[in-house]
Amino acid sequence: KIFDANGLILLPSLIDAHVHLREPGYEYKEDIASGLHAAAGGGFGIVMAMANTNPINDRASVTEFMLDKAKESWPNGPRLYPIGALTKGLAGKEMAPLAELAEAGCKAFSNDGLPVMNNEIFRRCVEYAWDLGLKVIDHCEDSFLAKDGAINEGKLSSFLGLKGIPSVAESLQVARDILLSAYLDIPIHLAHISCKESVELIYWAKQKGIPITAETCPHYLFLTEDACNEYNTLAKVNPPLRTKQDQEALLHALREGVIDILVTDHAPHADFEKEQAFADAPNGISGLDTALSLSLKLLKKGFSFKDIIGLWGKRPAEIFGLEFSELMSGQEANFILVDLKEEWLVNPNTLFSKGKNTPWLGHKLRGRVKFHFYKGQLIFGEKLWPGF
Ligand code: DOR
Ligand code: ZN
Ligand code: ZN
Repeated sequence: KIFDANGLILLPSLIDAHVHLREPGYEYKEDIASGLHAAAGGGFGIVMAMANTNPINDRASVTEFMLDKAKESWPNGPRLYPIGALTKGLAGKEMAPLAELAEAGCKAFSNDGLPVMNNEIFRRCVEYAWDLGLKVIDHCEDSFLAKDGAINEGKLSSFLGLKGIPSVAESLQVARDILLSAYLDIPIHLAHISCKESVELIYWAKQKGIPITAETCPHYLFLTEDACNEYNTLAKVNPPLRTKQDQEALLHALREGVIDILVTDHAPHADFEKEQAFADAPNGISGLDTALSLSLKLLKKGFSFKDIIGLWGKRPAEIFGLEFSELMSGQEANFILVDLKEEWLVNPNTLFSKGKNTPWLGHKLRGRVKFHFYKGQLIFGEKLWPGF
């Protein structure tokens, strides 16, 4: 399925199942149009957008607004699939109108940005979502254990005098989700897995046939907590960058299919926000523009193109019930042409996202999308998309 065309490599148009596009409410960080341009340029024909907008996507009118905005700003651009909030205002108290959200077009439900939710409400949400045929994505974090944390808990956090986020804040909730998924026999998807303990639990669960799925992000594979020393707040993200051992466990898990997919957790922020003191700056890394180049580094770590297509396309499509075409003749043209050799400098001008907050700023990355066809239309390309 993969061949060389004039030095360019053909891959299917990819899926990013976890982005924050900030509209409505935080358009100064990103808006739907800029987020979709970053997606198209990054090789993604589908993005799933989290619910922590303002207002929060906890009712049909917000979902409809997002979908209208996407259509209006770029009728033939990448597809935006909203993720609905599990609870009203993401406050963890009252279930959001999930049926109404599903009807409006949400493709999953999530609790991002939420203080710890009690198990009883979470269980009801998982059951109700599944009745609607949709999955719950849990941003695994015990918010009491993670409270006020800014960085991985360990030697570095003590050295810097910053409150740490222990890996157990994540793994405890991963364990809860696994046990609940087993008990209910309902799938739960685990967001942005960052540590070894979580990987070990997921491995155990999968061996038992428990229907959980999990994701991690390129930044957990290529950076450790040391990046906070080097890149300051640009490396501040939640869950935090962890240790070499965690990194190795994640890579191994991805290779073995213990972790199912890669996502960017694209979290654009404005410069003035990231210029604050470490403890005060918001969490997040802008990821849509750099994800594919970073993922291509996996080719040197025992991954094949087929693996990459699985992680960024086939598997997320299966997990969330999305369309994905693996370049079969007679189908709509959904593909990207990538120059594997091109080196590009990551800087504010080469990033299509409004969010310039990436630790790779000033670094050269290899591999660049040159053309992106989606639904038979050229949505990104050197000459045809103004601004490139
Ligand atoms: O780093 C993060 N940024 N983690 C989250 O869970 C939220 C996200 C955001 O919305 O900025
Ligand atoms: Zn999250
Ligand atoms: Zn997120």
